[in-house]
Amino acid sequence: MRVLLTGAAGFIGGAIGTALVEGGHEVVGVDLMLPQAHGSAEAPEGVLVRDVREAGGWGDLLEGVDVVCHQAAVVGAGVKVADLPDYASHNDLGTAVLLAAMHEAGVGRMVVASSMVVYGEGRYLCAEHGRQAPPPRAVAALDAGDFDVKCGVCGRSLEWALVDETAPLDPRGAYAASKAAQEYYVASWVRQAGAAAIGLRYHNVYGPHMPRDTPYSGVAAMFRSSLERGEAPNVYEDGAQMRDFVHVADVARANVAAMEAVVAADAGHWATYNVASGHPVAIRDVAEMVATGTASGLAPNVTGQYRLGDVRHVVASPERARTELGFSAQVLPEDGLREFATAPLRA
Ligand SMILES: NC(=O)c1ccc[n+]([C@@H]2O[C@H](COP(=O)([O-])OP(=O)(O)OC[C@H]3O[C@@H](n4cnc5c(N)ncnc54)[C@H](O)[C@@H]3O)[C@@H](O)[C@H]2O)c1
Ligand SMILES: [Zn+2]
Repeated sequence: MRVLLTGAAGFIGGAIGTALVEGGHEVVGVDLMLPQAHGSAEAPEGVLVRDVREAGGWGDLLEGVDVVCHQAAVVGAGVKVADLPDYASHNDLGTAVLLAAMHEAGVGRMVVASSMVVYGEGRYLCAEHGRQAPPPRAVAALDAGDFDVKCGVCGRSLEWALVDETAPLDPRGAYAASKAAQEYYVASWVRQAGAAAIGLRYHNVYGPHMPRDTPYSGVAAMFRSSLERGEAPNVYEDGAQMRDFVHVADVARANVAAMEAVVAADAGHWATYNVASGHPVAIRDVAEMVATGTASGLAPNVTGQYRLGDVRHVVASPERARTELGFSAQVLPEDGLREFATAPLRA
């Protein structure tokens, strides 16, 4: 395949580029080298500095391209209200401009990076009342150290269940809203242009070259940085929050599988997939696994503190990607997270 890869200098884009080249594919890599992601670093070799929001000049870049792998985005939790225009501009306008340019150039296949954040809360079951969408947790309960989400009918603690791709989208923040909007733009382009696309909803991605701890970087990187400073990693709530941590090499493999599938797909095809390890872990265990890899002897510090915006559990079902894309993650979190403790990070 000949692939136009956006966000090619990023944490995940870099791993996808490597996987594509190793698979004998041709890569045209573009990246804006956003200062908030890269500081003043130069573009890696072979990556063209280019803003996806810029309308002109796509003809040559898209010449002979079989599929666009769209990873470029402003990432993170959306910490400040002032970040809203950045999410809307880079993520949504950027996607819209790219889709229009692809249509113009006659390129009709895309894989787009989405995220588990489009789901909002995970899925919960009450022993008596079945599936429940929990109301927000009460501050008084959180203050008292009761972190479970409760059944809206009977008030009992809910058990977590696997989120599959049929779950309704419920983005809760600016970044999440921009990722959901990207999916909607791509789906509408598929219908209007007679194109085909796949959206990959990554869960918690970690691995070599992950950005260092900023307010936007993943919790695994923050645990690692605390350990490097000789401090115990701080874990919010009671540490029992369940997540799925998926290694960046597996995310790259999922992208290659999705590109191969979408190139072969019929016009009008649009599907989304969770990209997850299928081995859910509690956040406290994540801290422990990273700590094990550092030989620091430091145990996680479970603080009981909480952030009102946090969801309690989000655990993915990896089934659809397995049956339809033939993708299963190869790296177990206990191996990958231990190794991550000493892997190189992006400055
Ligand atoms: N890291 C995760 O855990 C995670 C989870 C779910 C989804 N994602 C998604 O995966 C994709 C890649 O994220 P990442 O973790 O590699 O982040 P990253 O910041 O390392 O990479 C994103 C890249 O996009 C580039 N970029 C941003 N705006 C651009 C623009 N207008 N034009 C061209 N390039 C631009 C940045 O310079 C950066 O190199 C994103 O779409 C993100 O939303 C990441
Ligand atoms: Zn109930």
